[in-house]
Amino acid sequence: MKVLVVGNGGREHALAWKLLKSEQVEQVICAPGNGGTAAMEGCRNLPLAVDNFQGIKEFALENDIDLVVVGPELPLALGIADYLEDANLTVFGPKKAGARLESSKSWAKGLMEEAGIPTAKSATFAREEAEAAKAYAAERGAPIVVKADGLAAGKGVTIANTVEEAIAAIEAATTGQFGAAGDRLVIEEYLTGQEVSVLALTDGRAIVPLLPAQDHKAIGEGDTGSNTGGMGAYSPAPLVTPLLMERINKEVLEPAIATLSKRAIDYRGVIYAGLMISPNDDIWVLEFNCRFGDPETQVILPLLETPLEELMLACARGNLSAVLPIRWRKDRVAACVVMASGGYPGSYQKGKAIGGLDRAAEQGALIFHAGTEVKEDRILTSGGRVLGVTGIGSNFNEAFAGAYRGIECIDFEGAYYRRDIGYRVLAMGNGE
Ligand code: AMP
Ligand code: GLY
Repeated sequence: MKVLVVGNGGREHALAWKLLKSEQVEQVICAPGNGGTAAMEGCRNLPLAVDNFQGIKEFALENDIDLVVVGPELPLALGIADYLEDANLTVFGPKKAGARLESSKSWAKGLMEEAGIPTAKSATFAREEAEAAKAYAAERGAPIVVKADGLAAGKGVTIANTVEEAIAAIEAATTGQFGAAGDRLVIEEYLTGQEVSVLALTDGRAIVPLLPAQDHKAIGEGDTGSNTGGMGAYSPAPLVTPLLMERINKEVLEPAIATLSKRAIDYRGVIYAGLMISPNDDIWVLEFNCRFGDPETQVILPLLETPLEELMLACARGNLSAVLPIRWRKDRVAACVVMASGGYPGSYQKGKAIGGLDRAAEQGALIFHAGTEVKEDRILTSGGRVLGVTGIGSNFNEAFAGAYRGIECIDFEGAYYRRDIGYRVLAMGNGE
């Protein structure tokens, strides 16, 4: 079969790579793809932007595409699944109504409340209610979290350590910092604990979690500095014991899908629950995403044994139960370290030649490209997060050593990566 993957990040490279591992998948086309998907055997790029729905539809119909897999949230929020399904294409990813889980934080909060899903206490304010929002923040006190309601490319959340910071964040958001994403604000209680990403597959009825992952969002070592899309991840996260996963299923995933269904939303694809686990194992939902995580996908998919397209087709066709349980490589763990352009998540330069990729692969590392492109046979940087280097091992010490061995082979001007990815899991004694 032929699969079209929409997107151009490390997540999409990992999706394309995993799909091509299956005997059933002959070809993957990535729109628009990156330097890694351009160079991978069996894969090619199609220069169409993720929101060029008409171009994507025409290509898919003309080329007998059997499955369209949508990576990023933006096209899902804009209704790509609705558009392509109307043309009788098979799509992995929720329709616009379901994608609101990610595209509107206040809508997601309402759904959580209805479903009885544990989440931080919050209040929602319209842009015109900025003064009431400031009064609410002052009354609740700091630390407090201010969130733009809509999609803001990961930049819409401010953890305010003082009421003044909260007020500044409210002012910035309501005076246009995030455009329409700031039409509404969610202000919520600050939670502490460890964050985990639990991604689950669903066909609208059955919902089944993938292996849990942990991601390091901050740019700086020791989880300091600005938040990024994610600087490294590992899976399966030992923090999520089988008992905790059972509770996540019962307290979060099953109520979410049941409540979507009650609202007549037929949600098919990935539900990604960003969770905070408190020191005494309370589970709180920080956010829902309507797509695979990045870099979580780079550590989850290498451990998957069931062919990915089988699971995706089952979600799209509404027969997920028939292909369960999902099979995993139980004897392996995976760790990914992201290499970024110097200056990211602020401004950075592009167009730097990347060397040592072959040597890193010879060391056994899996290299998933994100912000790269091929120009005149050279691979150049073209984004903030450039590459994710994944190591696989029988324990986390081995997996991280593999990832860092790979990283040490790779160079480009200004390359930056965190040297402490996985410090928690290694300190927990789960490295062995
Ligand atoms: P979100 O996009 O809502 O997941 O927020 C982005 C990041 O902000 C999360 O991954 C957390 O690190 C942090 N965050 C969000 N909400 C809270 C909260 N209520 N308490 C503490 N940290 C939060
Ligand atoms: N790694 C965080 C995300 O994909 O949203």
